[in-house]
Amino acid sequence: MDNTPTADTSIPTASPALLAGKVAFITGAGRGIGAAAARLFAREGARVMLAARTEDQLESVTQDIRAAGGTADHVVCDLADADSVRAAVDRTVSRYGRLDIAFNNGATGIPPGPMDQVREADLDRIYEVNFKGTWLAMAAEVAAIRATAGTGAIVNNSSVGSHRGNPELPAYGAMKRAVNSLTESAAVTYGPEGIRVNAIAPGTTLTEMMRGWDDVNPGIIERINAGTPLRRAADPGEIAQAAAWLLSDRSSYVTGAVLKVDGGLGA
Ligand SMILES: NC(=O)c1ccc[n+]([C@@H]2O[C@H](COP(=O)([O-])OP(=O)(O)OC[C@H]3O[C@@H](n4cnc5c(N)ncnc54)[C@H](OP(=O)(O)O)[C@@H]3O)[C@@H](O)[C@H]2O)c1
Repeated sequence: MDNTPTADTSIPTASPALLAGKVAFITGAGRGIGAAAARLFAREGARVMLAARTEDQLESVTQDIRAAGGTADHVVCDLADADSVRAAVDRTVSRYGRLDIAFNNGATGIPPGPMDQVREADLDRIYEVNFKGTWLAMAAEVAAIRATAGTGAIVNNSSVGSHRGNPELPAYGAMKRAVNSLTESAAVTYGPEGIRVNAIAPGTTLTEMMRGWDDVNPGIIERINAGTPLRRAADPGEIAQAAAWLLSDRSSYVTGAVLKVDGGLGA
């Protein structure tokens, strides 16, 4: 009997791009994980709208994406300003005609320190940007997806620091845990209409935010790496890959998940 495999011409030789045909809105897209996500989503076929406060950073990432053949635009947006968040989502729809997917990644850090020494103004700030800003964006995104694409997916950027005690960044950890709760609630609410909502929980990732923490607490990256099973920090692109998968149709039966992308740190 001849077992030589014969070519099956019905099987495509290359997979289609992960996010082909989708319109994506990404907050915090001027640098770090958000910029890596914007680049990756565009490479994977999405038309992307980048949002953050610093226009020159947004402009630079947008131009890079266009130079590589992708479709990108940007909008200045402050997550602490409700009108600005709604306007940014509206701008995505007016620019591209629809919204399919959103990555709520933008967030701020505050100085590390024990719970009793968190300044009230910093607590308010982190509530306003990291939690309320995410809620504002999600509400606007659900409305935009419903009104245009009909079904879609949202990913929120949480943190490995949301799962357990977070003694050095207690307010940051608390707001990220609140984001996890909002993610799960939204997944239950919008699942029946085909809008999936998940979160990723990154571990140590080499961005300005993490380097800023290392500046005030020298050696923190190395110390965390020593306790991380993969023994290293992530490149922002590795975190973006997880968000891209959760936003793609290849994760079509995943909703309400908080996916650890942490080199095993939280295991
Ligand atoms: N790096 C890590 O180790 C790590 C670990 C776990 C989770 N995360 C999460 O990953 C996400 C991205 O962080 P990153 O490390 O990439 O930080 P990053 O390099 O500091 O980037 C943060 C992004 O968020 C934007 N942003 C901050 N405040 C904003 C506001 N009020 N309105 C709109 N945009 C705002 C920033 O732009 P503008 O300042 O120009 O507005 C920037 O584009 C965050 O949710 C963070 O909590 C990071």
